[in-house]
Formats: sequence, structure tokens, C-alpha cells
Amino acid sequence: MLKRRDILVLFFILLPWTLLITFWHQHAGYPLIPVPKDNRTGASKAHQRGFSLHESCVTMNKRITKATQMKYVHQRPPPWSDTLPTLHVITPTYGRPVQKAELTRLTNTLLHVPNLHWLVVEDSVQRTALVSRLLENTGLNYTHLNVETPENLKTQKKPRNVRFPRGTMQRNLALRWLREHINPNSSHKGVVYFADDDNTYNLELFEEMRWTRKVSVWPVAFIGGLRYESPKINSQGKVFGWKTVFDPRRPFAIDMAGFAVNLQLILSKPQACFKLKGVKGGYQESSLLQGLVTLSDLEPKAANCTKILVWHTRTERPLLVNEGKKGFTSGSMEV
Ligand code: UGA
Ligand code: MN
Repeated sequence: MLKRRDILVLFFILLPWTLLITFWHQHAGYPLIPVPKDNRTGASKAHQRGFSLHESCVTMNKRITKATQMKYVHQRPPPWSDTLPTLHVITPTYGRPVQKAELTRLTNTLLHVPNLHWLVVEDSVQRTALVSRLLENTGLNYTHLNVETPENLKTQKKPRNVRFPRGTMQRNLALRWLREHINPNSSHKGVVYFADDDNTYNLELFEEMRWTRKVSVWPVAFIGGLRYESPKINSQGKVFGWKTVFDPRRPFAIDMAGFAVNLQLILSKPQACFKLKGVKGGYQESSLLQGLVTLSDLEPKAANCTKILVWHTRTERPLLVNEGKKGFTSGSMEV
């Protein structure tokens, strides 16, 4: 039989252990339970603990790995805010071996951005299963559209300086979608950005553009044969020209990745769109912006255009020579 004294001794031996285990559960083990979507503080705290969590995953059991996966699903994208303007990000995309890789990379970026609406427009006869599945699994707030660039536009003979416009019909369709689905009289605050599927985006870029009043602009790296191209800014903080070698006299000598437009401006000028025919190489962007603003309206961002927040990267086309004519690997494997 245990005596009263033994029970007391046992109690004092067990007490510190009980306290220790409770503490561990709350501060180390507990984040394994998914953080609710609408609990921002909780989410970011769990994020800060990410590293120790990962380490414990390596050494601990399967149950923990499963809980960790759930945590990622529940924390991204960040919770919707009623006060932030929505970023409507328009991405044209087309089928080629690296398409899924490009869209996966872009997804991983966009999953960090609050209040984001991704308009993905496929250059295809119909929406493909690959892109549909990918979008469904992202957890992002998206609209999936498609329009095929007609073959004759791609192949027809053109003067040397006229290029087949890539992604143009797709961007125009997304603009039409916004105009048809968002009431211009609503209090909906938003910004439109054209994000090609192969560029590299710093997360800061999305916050720079979020409060665009008309059109905001910033430098873009690896474009026009330069380390970067940039708007030129005067001492009053106004754009007065373009730091580019290729045709600096273009009305807006800026890459697609270098500007964002206020949604209300897009809605209030329904005629403004990307021109499809007879547009010289490098004039796509001007064809839209000329219908929306003048130079003096432009708002320089990224520390007065002194920081690079977007890179016009292009993925090398993979060499698949060993596939042969009939294909070597299984065609049913989605890559
Ligand atoms: C440059 C600019 O950065 C693009 O914004 C511009 O659309 C393009 O030139 C052009 O006007 O030709 P670049 O890297 O040469 O970009 O073009 P891609 O990245 O190959 O294409 C731009 C976007 O259109 C991508 O998102 C791509 O997926 C899409 N695209 C491309 C299509 O939807 N269909 C195509 O046949 C080709
Ligand atoms: Mn590109």
C-alpha cells in the first residue's frame, strides 16, 4: 500500500515533468495542429517556427509529417483582408514542356500574396486538364479562361519589325472579363498586373503596386539587351523618359512586367486594350497605356525606380532528343 508520504513524494517527482510536457506541447509540438485561415498572427508565428518544425519532422513519426502538410495548405494564401485593394494578376500561358514547371513556380510566389485574384488565360482551343488541375490544387483565388491565338496570326508574313504578339489576345480576354464582371460603380478597389508565366517576382513588388492610383512603374531586369531597363525619374519624382537602348522614343518604353494599372481606370476606359495588328515589336505596352494615361500620370515605385523587384527571366527549352519520334517515356505521365 502507498503511504500518504509516498504519494506526496511521487507528486513532487511528477509535477515538473507534467509542467515540462505541457510547455513543450504549447510551444513546440502544438504548431503541428493546422493554423486557422483567418488567424493571421497565429499563422505568422507558426511560420517563424518553421525551421524547428522541419527538424522535428526529420526525426519524428509519420503523423507529424501529415500534420505539417496540412499546416501548409491552411496557411496559404494569407487570409483575405477587407481593407486591402485586390490585385488582379493576368497570366497568359501556353502548352509546352515547361508549362507546368513555370506555373508551379509562379503559384509558389502568388501563394504569399494577400488579396490576389489570378486570371490565367490559356492560349488553347479549350481549357486543358493540366492547367485546370493545377489551379484547383493551388488554393488560390483564380479565374481560368482560354482563347487560342489563330494560326494565321502566328505564321503570316510580316514586315521585319512586326512580331507575332505573344499573350496579347489572352491579356485582352482577361481585361474583358474584368470589365464584364466588376461593376465600375462598386467600391471594389483593385489593381491590374500582367505577370507572364516565366518571369521572377519579388514579393515586395506586389505591395509596391497595391495602392496604384493610375499607373505605377518600376525597372525590369534582363530586358532589351541590358542588365535592366528603367523609367527615368527627375528631381520632382516624375517620369521624364526611358533608360533603354532599344527605341527609347516609344511612348511607353517599358516591358509588360514593369507597370500596373488601377482597376477603376481599366473599367472607366473600356476601349483601352492591347492592339493586335500592325504593332511593331516593343510597342504592345504602349498600345494599351496610350489609351489610359500620359507620361505625367505615371507613379514611380520601387524606391523611385532604384530597386529591381522583377526579372524578365526566360526558361531554357529542355532538350528532349532522347525521346525519339515515338517518345521514350510514358506519355501518360504529366510533366
Ligand atoms: C516579351 C514580353 O516580356 C512579353 O510581355 C510580351 O508578351 C512578349 O515579349 C511579346 O510581345 O512577344 P517574351 O519572354 O519574349 O516576352 O515572351 P514569352 O514569355 O514567350 O510570352 C509572354 C507570355 O505570353 C507568357 O506568359 C507566355 O506563356 C504567353 N504566350 C507565349 C502565349 O500565351 N502564347 C504563345 O504562343 C506564346
Ligand atoms: Mn517571357
